[in-house]
Formats: sequence, structure tokens, C-alpha cells
Amino acid sequence: MKSPILEGGVFLVLCALIISVFGEEECVPYALKSTDVGFYQFSLDLLSGEEVSVDSLDASSIKTAKTYIVIDGFLSNLTTPMSRTVKDELIKIPESNVIVVDWGPLSGSTSYTGSMNPLEVGVLYDQVTQNVPLVGQKIADFVQALKDKKNIQFSQVHVVGFSLGAQIGAVAGLELLKRSGEKLARISALDPAGPKYKNGGPENRLDDTDAAFVDVYHTNRLGFGNDRKNIGHANFYINGGNQQPECESITAYVEKGICNHQFSWKFWNLAVVNDIKVCPCELKLFSKIACDCKDCERPPCENPIRTGLNLLITYAKYIFEIVSSVVDQVC
Ligand SMILES: *[C@@H]1O[C@H](CO)[C@@H](O)[C@H](O)[C@H]1NC(C)=O
Repeated sequence: MKSPILEGGVFLVLCALIISVFGEEECVPYALKSTDVGFYQFSLDLLSGEEVSVDSLDASSIKTAKTYIVIDGFLSNLTTPMSRTVKDELIKIPESNVIVVDWGPLSGSTSYTGSMNPLEVGVLYDQVTQNVPLVGQKIADFVQALKDKKNIQFSQVHVVGFSLGAQIGAVAGLELLKRSGEKLARISALDPAGPKYKNGGPENRLDDTDAAFVDVYHTNRLGFGNDRKNIGHANFYINGGNQQPECESITAYVEKGICNHQFSWKFWNLAVVNDIKVCPCELKLFSKIACDCKDCERPPCENPIRTGLNLLITYAKYIFEIVSSVVDQVC
């Protein structure tokens, strides 16, 4: 059996060479296999998960109900912390389905080794971003099958995506909209990936047209996250949106960034379980500070709203409030 890690390493060296001679576009990881994107159903009765596919849906225990689709980011798979812990919280919600997308071979998780230098990791990231549209299409196919075979409407589908997983959710949402004219209910974007997604039009990155409701949680917006402001219907700048208190003591630059970035899903998990109220702040368009929240030091502020899953309770009102330049910050 070939070692995927060795294969990945050899590929990277080759790839760096190919890029230097032919340019980036010529270097794609490898031919896609149908098994490269896996879907796993989890519930309190199915704690270790069960693979489901478009073909096996009929026989699965997936019910006509609210459906959460969890998508982790770069270097992820079924067992990486975001996939695992976000799923563990969501399965507690009664009468719902929880599906985790495992795009491991395409996310770089089988190619990555701890001995890679930052340049090599950067090359890998670039390749992985080229897989994002493909993974998004696969998810769109799967969601379409949920509708056709299980009568789950797009308006019952809530994608929770972290980093590149949020960008993948955006591709899936836009693809379904193009195919059918219908939108997914919601994309919760947990610090959506920034690198490679900072420029370009809304077609190529997450924005508020990708689902009926898009809520965005910024935790490292000037690093691994996205610095574009107000890209969702609800935009949360957690602790200012860039630097998280629990990561302050970390001195190594990359590790600190990862810690800030990952805080987005840790916050999400808290918001699934707890009723977290947040305060409005004023968007600063041309400033490094995303928003200015005068009352946040002393909650309860005026007009606090709930976040995470409880946001649905104030859904309509909240969208209405957020179309202006008012955004919300976690106190
Ligand atoms: C899942 O991803 C992690 C982190 O990238 C990696 O260490 C692990 O080997 C992967 N597991 C599988 C089964 O590929």
C-alpha cells in the first residue's frame, strides 16, 4: 500500500518544481475520486457516525427534518477538532439530522506533515483552495439528493462551516441557487477563510447571497480569516474580530493565528449550548477596528440580541436591523 503521506510529500516537491516552471495553474493535487468527499451521519444513537452517500440515502435513518451540515477547513477530516466538537453539540438538538462532510484527501490532511516549512504549507493551501469548488459541488449534489429522496427542503438545511469550510458552504449554496432558484436556509460562517478570498467578486467567495441567512463570526479577520466587513446578514466581531484574549499569551506567530482562528468554532459551540447575548456596535468602514461598541464593557447594552442557534428566534427582526451599518460584537 502506498503511503498517502509519502505520496503527498513527493507531490509537494514536484509541485513546487512545476509551479516554478509552469505557474500555479498546472499543479493540481491528483485526479479526483468519488470517495474524496464523504458524508457521515451522526446522532445520539449513532455516536461513531455512519457513512451515507447519494446512493445509500434511501436506506439511511436520515429523517425529513432540520439538517445541519458541518464542514471543517484546511487539513481537516472527520476527526479534526472542529468537525468533532461542533457535531457533538449539534446532535443534542432534538428532531434534526447532523451530517459531517469529510473532505480529508482534498483538504490537504493526507498530504500534510509536521516537517513542512511555511512555504510548503502555503503551496499546499493554494492547491487545496483549488479543490473548494469541487467539494462545494459534491455537497450541492448531496443536498439535492436529501430533497429528492428524503423530502428535506433546502429551507431546512443549515450549513456550519469553518474557514475554508465556510467558503465551501458558499459554493454549495450558490450552486443550488443556480440549479433550482432556491436558497439554503442558513450558512453560519465561522471565521471564513481570508487568504485567496479577500479580493474577487461575490461569485468567488462567501457573501449574503449564498443562503437565505448568512451569519459570520470573525475571530482572526486580519490573519487566517476574512477582513471584508459586513459580508453576511449578521456579522459578529468577536472581541473586536481579530485577536482573542485566550490566545494572547502565545508568542509564535502562526500558532497564535491558528488559536485566534479556531476560537470561532469554540465560540459557536458555546452559543449552541448557552444563550449568549451580544451588543450592537457601529461599523467602522475604513478602520482596522471593525466596529466600535460603546456599551460592550457594561452589558446589558441597549438592544442586545442572541447569537448562535438562538439567533433564529429573532431571525426576521434581526435581518431588518442589520441591513444598516450596525453590526454586533460579543461582549
Ligand atoms: C485527519 O487529519 C489530521 C490532521 O490533519 C491528521 O493528523 C490525521 O492523520 C487525519 N486522519 C486521517 C484518517 O486521514
